[in-house]
Amino acid sequence: MFSKFRKYSVALLALSLCGSFCATAIAKEAEKEPWWKQAVVYEIYPRSFADADNNGVGEIKGITSKLDYLKDLGVDALWITPCYPSPQVDFGYDISDYKAIAPEYGTMADFDELLAEAKKRDIKIIMDFVMNHSSDKHPWFVESASSKDNAKRDWYIWRDGVNGAPPNNWISLFGHSAWKLYPETGQYNYHFFYPEQPDLNWRNSEMRKAMYDAARFWLDKGVAGFRLDAVQALFEDPKLPDNPVKEGKNQYGDPNTEYLHNDRLPEVHDVLRELRAVLDMYPGDRVLIGETTGSDIAEISKSYGKNLDEVQLPMNFIMAYINKLSAPEFRKRISEWDKNPAGGWPLYFFSNHDQVRHFVRYGDKIHNEDIAKLTAAVLMTVRGTPMMYYGEELGMQNNDPKTKEDVQDPIGKIGWPAEIGRDGERTPMQWNSEINAGFSKAKPWLPVSPDYKKVNVASEDADKNSVLNFYKQLIHLRKTEDALKNGSYETLDDHNPDVLSYLRKSKDEIVVVALNMTPAPKFVQLDLSANGISADTAEPLLASFDAGSESLHLKSLKLPAYGVLIGKVN
Ligand code: GLC
Repeated sequence: MFSKFRKYSVALLALSLCGSFCATAIAKEAEKEPWWKQAVVYEIYPRSFADADNNGVGEIKGITSKLDYLKDLGVDALWITPCYPSPQVDFGYDISDYKAIAPEYGTMADFDELLAEAKKRDIKIIMDFVMNHSSDKHPWFVESASSKDNAKRDWYIWRDGVNGAPPNNWISLFGHSAWKLYPETGQYNYHFFYPEQPDLNWRNSEMRKAMYDAARFWLDKGVAGFRLDAVQALFEDPKLPDNPVKEGKNQYGDPNTEYLHNDRLPEVHDVLRELRAVLDMYPGDRVLIGETTGSDIAEISKSYGKNLDEVQLPMNFIMAYINKLSAPEFRKRISEWDKNPAGGWPLYFFSNHDQVRHFVRYGDKIHNEDIAKLTAAVLMTVRGTPMMYYGEELGMQNNDPKTKEDVQDPIGKIGWPAEIGRDGERTPMQWNSEINAGFSKAKPWLPVSPDYKKVNVASEDADKNSVLNFYKQLIHLRKTEDALKNGSYETLDDHNPDVLSYLRKSKDEIVVVALNMTPAPKFVQLDLSANGISADTAEPLLASFDAGSESLHLKSLKLPAYGVLIGKVN
């Protein structure tokens, strides 16, 4: 309701700016559901996806060359992790120019070509927006560091030390003090992440404007939105009180502390609202996906905004990292997210470039492929937007470094062996069984997983029972069954400890989903009468086992180990 009103006001504004044609387009949009509610989002780590120039590192042309694959898979939008110029200390999350493309990933012309080719296939591009910090090589920081009275000094956070020590006890998320001394000016600089990633000062209005200008630069080009990196760390308490110290040490050997005064400060919401207003000035329902953590759903939901005027799709890390297959736990987590207190549209994901792949986290080493199909079924059949990480559609697993010398990710170098870093989940995409899994003819920047001869696009394409083909069928079903697109989510058989069952219900269709989360076959009796439905049979739509083609009796269903059954109630 509120967002329709807001879009209507935007339409009026657009009328004055670009005439009646634009305004009609935006007003018409207000009538329909935004595209991102139906979309399947796919995260690409550009270094590792496809290497078109065969130098061992993937790039934008590589992504463009694989658009047909992505279209065939059923993907609607790509979230590309940072591909801006960067010293690559944190593999792109340290940006030295917010309005350009990194030479190692190509040119702006390559990026424009990607946008245009993706558009031809109805695929949208979402950029990663790193607002919390820049690189220490960004010209803004170089200026800021140059003297205490430089005009950009206040664009970053500088403070005097206390008795020859850092200004307070804040610890960087990536290990050790969050303050680096710059002897040139005698002051300390604040960094939530690496010292080479100095935090931008969001209390400075000129810097704020410069960042919104950077956002407009990409929106003008036609990107569909942004994934907001580490967005909750934007503000710090300017009085710099010490953070509470907890028991024990972290993986880097520092005291454990609570990030009380430098994370999730209320001022973050002002910035989220402002940025959202920037996006809402554009037609096409541009979207914000937030890297939004929180200890519970109430906290994560705050990122939607009180009037759903902040991030449309916050990432719910609690749901993604349940880390055990438990029907009661999944039931609880899906329900709380589906009915989040903000009334926002849920986004679901299991894996990304910072966490061990869920093939490993949920797998039991015996039924991993069945489990990969089961988690895919959750992702694609609950009410919400699914977000995938490249390679999960193959059942790609981690290939972790074996020695400290092998590590590329600096947190692995700093924290080895307690923290081995994130290389394992960032290895090259497995395209075929040829050299380097068809990713590159040169030695890849990270080693290809040894399972690539079996786990790759070409061989899974040819196997009708592969994880890849199951993903394709699931995505196809999501797009064709109205109940999966628009239906409500209702749990069934609420006390079953082993099998998660639910309905998706739209005006004209009811779909039932039953997922056996155990390694043993299970019988289930699904009674839909409490949901106001008298029917007790379903026509199988998709199953991970041979469910036959006859109508199934919902009061006596048999599911094999980790079996997935999706049916249309009739
Ligand atoms: C986010 C990114 C991660 C990066 C960090 C600092 O958590 O996902 O990869 O290292 O922010 O930018």
